[in-house]
Amino acid sequence: MNILTFDSDAKLNEAAANIIIGQIQTTPRAVLGLATGGTPVGIYKQVVKEFERGMFSFRNVSTFNLDEYVNIPVEHPESYHSYMKSNLFAHIDLPEAQCHIPDGNAADLTEECRSYDEAIELAGQIDLQLLGLGHNGHIGFNEPAHALTKGTHIVELAQETREANARFFDSIDQVPKQALTMGVGTILKAKKILLVVKGADKADIVKSALQGPITTDVPASLLQTHPNLIVLLDSAAAGKL
Ligand code: GLP
Repeated sequence: MNILTFDSDAKLNEAAANIIIGQIQTTPRAVLGLATGGTPVGIYKQVVKEFERGMFSFRNVSTFNLDEYVNIPVEHPESYHSYMKSNLFAHIDLPEAQCHIPDGNAADLTEECRSYDEAIELAGQIDLQLLGLGHNGHIGFNEPAHALTKGTHIVELAQETREANARFFDSIDQVPKQALTMGVGTILKAKKILLVVKGADKADIVKSALQGPITTDVPASLLQTHPNLIVLLDSAAAGKL
Protein backbone atom coordinates (compact mmCIF):
# COMPACT_ATOMS: atom_id res chain seq x y z
CA MET A 1 0.00 0.00 0.00
CA ASN A 2 1.32 3.39 -0.98
CA ILE A 3 -0.08 6.26 1.13
CA LEU A 4 0.51 9.86 0.08
CA THR A 5 -0.63 12.86 2.08
CA PHE A 6 -1.22 16.35 0.70
CA ASP A 7 -1.46 19.71 2.41
CA SER A 8 -3.75 21.22 -0.19
CA ASP A 9 -6.85 20.10 -2.04
CA ALA A 10 -5.39 21.37 -5.31
CA LYS A 11 -2.25 19.23 -4.97
CA LEU A 12 -4.27 16.16 -4.05
CA ASN A 13 -6.62 16.61 -7.01
CA GLU A 14 -3.66 17.12 -9.32
CA ALA A 15 -1.94 13.95 -8.07
CA ALA A 16 -5.12 11.88 -8.50
CA ALA A 17 -5.80 13.35 -11.94
CA ASN A 18 -2.22 12.61 -13.00
CA ILE A 19 -2.63 8.95 -12.05
CA ILE A 20 -5.82 8.71 -14.13
CA ILE A 21 -4.25 10.56 -17.07
CA GLY A 22 -1.06 8.47 -16.81
CA GLN A 23 -3.19 5.33 -17.02
CA ILE A 24 -4.86 6.58 -20.22
CA GLN A 25 -1.55 7.63 -21.75
CA THR A 26 0.09 4.25 -21.08
CA THR A 27 -3.06 2.21 -21.86
CA PRO A 28 -5.14 4.08 -24.47
CA ARG A 29 -7.80 1.33 -24.27
CA ALA A 30 -7.90 1.58 -20.47
CA VAL A 31 -10.91 0.33 -18.54
CA LEU A 32 -11.55 2.81 -15.73
CA GLY A 33 -13.72 2.23 -12.68
CA LEU A 34 -15.23 5.57 -11.67
CA ALA A 35 -16.65 6.92 -8.43
CA THR A 36 -19.09 9.66 -7.47
CA GLY A 37 -19.65 11.67 -4.28
CA GLY A 38 -18.11 14.96 -3.20
CA THR A 39 -14.51 13.68 -3.15
CA PRO A 40 -13.85 13.19 -6.89
CA VAL A 41 -15.44 16.46 -8.10
CA GLY A 42 -12.15 18.40 -7.99
CA ILE A 43 -10.29 15.44 -9.49
CA TYR A 44 -12.62 15.31 -12.51
CA LYS A 45 -12.30 19.09 -12.88
CA GLN A 46 -8.52 18.71 -13.06
CA VAL A 47 -8.79 15.82 -15.57
CA VAL A 48 -11.04 17.98 -17.77
CA LYS A 49 -8.61 20.91 -17.51
CA GLU A 50 -5.74 18.69 -18.67
CA PHE A 51 -7.90 17.10 -21.39
CA GLU A 52 -8.61 20.55 -22.80
CA ARG A 53 -4.87 21.02 -23.34
CA GLY A 54 -5.17 18.24 -25.94
CA MET A 55 -2.51 15.88 -24.61
CA PHE A 56 -4.64 12.72 -24.42
CA SER A 57 -7.93 11.25 -25.55
CA PHE A 58 -10.68 9.12 -24.05
CA ARG A 59 -11.67 7.85 -27.50
CA ASN A 60 -10.73 4.24 -26.74
CA VAL A 61 -11.32 4.27 -22.98
CA SER A 62 -14.23 2.43 -21.34
CA THR A 63 -15.65 3.38 -17.96
CA PHE A 64 -17.70 1.54 -15.37
CA ASN A 65 -19.24 3.47 -12.51
CA LEU A 66 -19.40 1.90 -9.09
CA ASP A 67 -23.03 2.56 -8.33
CA GLU A 68 -26.36 4.28 -8.93
CA TYR A 69 -29.44 4.93 -6.82
CA VAL A 70 -32.53 2.82 -7.44
CA ASN A 71 -35.64 4.57 -8.69
CA ILE A 72 -34.25 8.02 -9.25
CA PRO A 73 -34.93 9.46 -12.72
CA VAL A 74 -31.77 9.56 -14.83
CA GLU A 75 -32.34 13.33 -15.40
CA HIS A 76 -32.59 13.99 -11.63
CA PRO A 77 -29.64 16.30 -10.81
CA GLU A 78 -28.51 13.90 -8.06
CA SER A 79 -28.62 10.72 -10.10
CA TYR A 80 -25.11 9.42 -10.66
CA HIS A 81 -25.89 9.52 -14.40
CA SER A 82 -26.36 13.31 -14.11
CA TYR A 83 -23.32 13.63 -11.84
CA MET A 84 -21.04 11.87 -14.32
CA LYS A 85 -22.40 13.84 -17.25
CA SER A 86 -21.97 17.23 -15.63
CA ASN A 87 -18.65 16.55 -13.89
CA LEU A 88 -16.88 14.57 -16.60
CA PHE A 89 -18.59 13.00 -19.60
CA ALA A 90 -19.97 16.23 -21.12
CA HIS A 91 -16.46 17.70 -21.25
CA ILE A 92 -14.39 14.88 -22.76
CA ASP A 93 -14.35 12.78 -25.96
CA LEU A 94 -15.44 9.51 -24.36
CA PRO A 95 -18.01 7.84 -26.66
CA GLU A 96 -21.34 7.35 -24.87
CA ALA A 97 -21.45 3.65 -25.74
CA GLN A 98 -18.26 3.18 -23.73
CA CYS A 99 -19.62 4.75 -20.50
CA HIS A 100 -21.37 2.31 -18.20
CA ILE A 101 -23.44 3.15 -15.12
CA PRO A 102 -25.83 0.66 -13.54
CA ASP A 103 -29.45 1.40 -14.47
CA GLY A 104 -31.35 1.91 -11.22
CA ASN A 105 -34.60 2.20 -13.17
CA ALA A 106 -34.35 -1.16 -14.92
CA ALA A 107 -37.59 -3.16 -14.80
CA ASP A 108 -35.63 -6.19 -13.62
CA LEU A 109 -32.88 -5.03 -11.26
CA THR A 110 -31.46 -8.52 -10.73
CA GLU A 111 -31.03 -8.90 -14.48
CA GLU A 112 -29.48 -5.41 -14.64
CA CYS A 113 -26.88 -6.47 -12.04
CA ARG A 114 -26.11 -9.64 -13.99
CA SER A 115 -25.70 -7.83 -17.29
CA TYR A 116 -23.57 -5.11 -15.65
CA ASP A 117 -21.16 -7.78 -14.42
CA GLU A 118 -21.19 -9.37 -17.85
CA ALA A 119 -20.27 -6.03 -19.46
CA ILE A 120 -17.34 -5.59 -17.03
CA GLU A 121 -16.22 -9.13 -17.75
CA LEU A 122 -16.38 -8.50 -21.50
CA ALA A 123 -14.34 -5.30 -21.19
CA GLY A 124 -11.63 -7.29 -19.41
CA GLN A 125 -10.11 -6.38 -16.08
CA ILE A 126 -10.58 -2.85 -14.71
CA ASP A 127 -7.16 -1.21 -15.07
CA LEU A 128 -7.70 1.55 -12.54
CA GLN A 129 -10.51 1.79 -9.99
CA LEU A 130 -11.10 5.18 -8.39
CA LEU A 131 -12.71 4.97 -4.94
CA GLY A 132 -13.98 7.32 -2.27
CA LEU A 133 -14.72 6.25 1.28
CA GLY A 134 -17.99 6.45 3.20
CA HIS A 135 -17.98 7.52 6.87
CA ASN A 136 -18.95 3.98 7.82
CA GLY A 137 -16.22 2.43 5.68
CA HIS A 138 -18.35 1.73 2.62
CA ILE A 139 -16.79 1.54 -0.83
CA GLY A 140 -19.15 2.04 -3.75
CA PHE A 141 -22.34 1.34 -1.82
CA ASN A 142 -21.00 -1.82 -0.17
CA GLU A 143 -22.25 -1.10 3.34
CA PRO A 144 -20.86 -2.70 6.52
CA ALA A 145 -22.45 -6.14 6.86
CA HIS A 146 -21.96 -9.62 8.25
CA ALA A 147 -21.11 -10.78 4.72
CA LEU A 148 -20.26 -8.90 1.55
CA THR A 149 -21.29 -9.62 -2.03
CA LYS A 150 -18.85 -10.37 -4.85
CA GLY A 151 -20.66 -8.94 -7.89
CA THR A 152 -23.09 -6.13 -8.68
CA HIS A 153 -26.14 -6.26 -6.44
CA ILE A 154 -29.03 -4.31 -4.92
CA VAL A 155 -28.33 -2.75 -1.50
CA GLU A 156 -30.42 -1.15 1.19
CA LEU A 157 -28.60 2.06 2.05
CA ALA A 158 -27.53 2.45 5.68
CA GLN A 159 -29.28 5.25 7.56
CA GLU A 160 -25.91 7.02 8.08
CA THR A 161 -25.21 6.88 4.33
CA ARG A 162 -28.60 8.42 3.58
CA GLU A 163 -27.92 11.10 6.21
CA ALA A 164 -24.47 11.81 4.71
CA ASN A 165 -25.92 12.10 1.21
CA ALA A 166 -28.93 14.18 2.33
CA ARG A 167 -26.74 17.27 1.77
CA PHE A 168 -27.17 16.76 -1.98
CA PHE A 169 -30.99 16.60 -1.75
CA ASP A 170 -33.68 18.96 -0.38
CA SER A 171 -34.38 16.61 2.52
CA ILE A 172 -33.44 13.14 3.73
CA ASP A 173 -36.85 11.81 2.61
CA GLN A 174 -35.76 12.38 -0.95
CA VAL A 175 -32.59 10.28 -0.62
CA PRO A 176 -33.26 6.92 -2.25
CA LYS A 177 -33.35 3.92 0.09
CA GLN A 178 -31.74 1.48 -2.31
CA ALA A 179 -28.91 1.46 -4.80
CA LEU A 180 -27.14 -0.86 -7.22
CA THR A 181 -23.45 -1.25 -6.53
CA MET A 182 -20.50 -3.11 -7.93
CA GLY A 183 -19.47 -5.77 -5.43
CA VAL A 184 -16.24 -5.87 -3.45
CA GLY A 185 -15.13 -8.89 -5.51
CA THR A 186 -15.17 -6.80 -8.69
CA ILE A 187 -13.52 -3.84 -6.96
CA LEU A 188 -10.70 -6.01 -5.62
CA LYS A 189 -10.15 -7.55 -9.07
CA ALA A 190 -9.05 -4.17 -10.47
CA LYS A 191 -5.36 -4.11 -11.44
CA LYS A 192 -4.82 -0.87 -9.55
CA ILE A 193 -6.98 0.90 -6.96
CA LEU A 194 -6.81 4.62 -6.21
CA LEU A 195 -8.52 5.45 -2.92
CA VAL A 196 -8.98 9.17 -2.25
CA VAL A 197 -10.17 10.52 1.09
CA LYS A 198 -10.56 14.11 2.25
CA GLY A 199 -11.58 15.73 5.53
CA ALA A 200 -11.11 15.42 9.30
CA ASP A 201 -14.54 13.77 9.59
CA LYS A 202 -13.04 10.73 7.85
CA ALA A 203 -9.81 10.49 9.91
CA ASP A 204 -11.18 7.73 12.19
CA ILE A 205 -12.53 5.60 9.36
CA VAL A 206 -9.30 6.07 7.38
CA LYS A 207 -7.40 4.64 10.34
CA SER A 208 -9.79 1.68 10.69
CA ALA A 209 -9.77 1.01 6.96
CA LEU A 210 -6.01 1.15 6.48
CA GLN A 211 -4.64 0.02 9.84
CA GLY A 212 -7.49 -1.82 11.55
CA PRO A 213 -8.49 -5.47 11.30
CA ILE A 214 -9.74 -6.71 7.93
CA THR A 215 -13.45 -7.06 8.50
CA THR A 216 -16.71 -6.85 6.56
CA ASP A 217 -17.82 -4.35 9.25
CA VAL A 218 -15.43 -1.93 7.51
CA PRO A 219 -15.69 -2.89 3.83
CA ALA A 220 -12.76 -0.62 2.89
CA SER A 221 -10.48 -2.65 5.19
CA LEU A 222 -10.54 -5.39 2.52
CA LEU A 223 -8.48 -3.02 0.37
CA GLN A 224 -5.51 -3.85 2.63
CA THR A 225 -5.35 -7.18 0.77
CA HIS A 226 -4.95 -5.53 -2.63
CA PRO A 227 -1.45 -5.75 -4.15
CA ASN A 228 -1.60 -2.40 -5.92
CA LEU A 229 -3.39 0.13 -3.73
CA ILE A 230 -2.56 3.84 -3.83
CA VAL A 231 -4.13 6.01 -1.13
CA LEU A 232 -4.24 9.78 -1.48
CA LEU A 233 -5.25 11.68 1.65
CA ASP A 234 -5.45 15.28 2.64
CA SER A 235 -3.69 16.10 5.93
CA ALA A 236 -7.01 16.18 7.79
CA ALA A 237 -8.04 12.68 6.66
CA ALA A 238 -4.55 11.40 7.50
CA GLY A 239 -4.70 12.99 10.97
CA LYS A 240 -5.10 9.76 12.96
CA LEU A 241 -2.63 7.52 11.12
C1 GLP B 1 -21.18 7.83 -1.67
C2 GLP B 1 -20.80 6.92 -2.87
C3 GLP B 1 -19.42 6.39 -2.70
C4 GLP B 1 -18.56 7.52 -2.17
C5 GLP B 1 -18.92 7.77 -0.73
C6 GLP B 1 -18.25 8.99 -0.12
O1 GLP B 1 -22.43 7.62 -1.16
N1 GLP B 1 -21.68 5.84 -3.16
O2 GLP B 1 -18.94 5.89 -3.94
O3 GLP B 1 -17.20 7.20 -2.24
O4 GLP B 1 -20.31 7.76 -0.56
O5 GLP B 1 -18.80 10.14 -0.63
P1 GLP B 1 -18.19 11.59 -0.41
O6 GLP B 1 -17.00 11.68 -1.30
O7 GLP B 1 -19.28 12.53 -0.86
O8 GLP B 1 -17.86 11.72 1.03
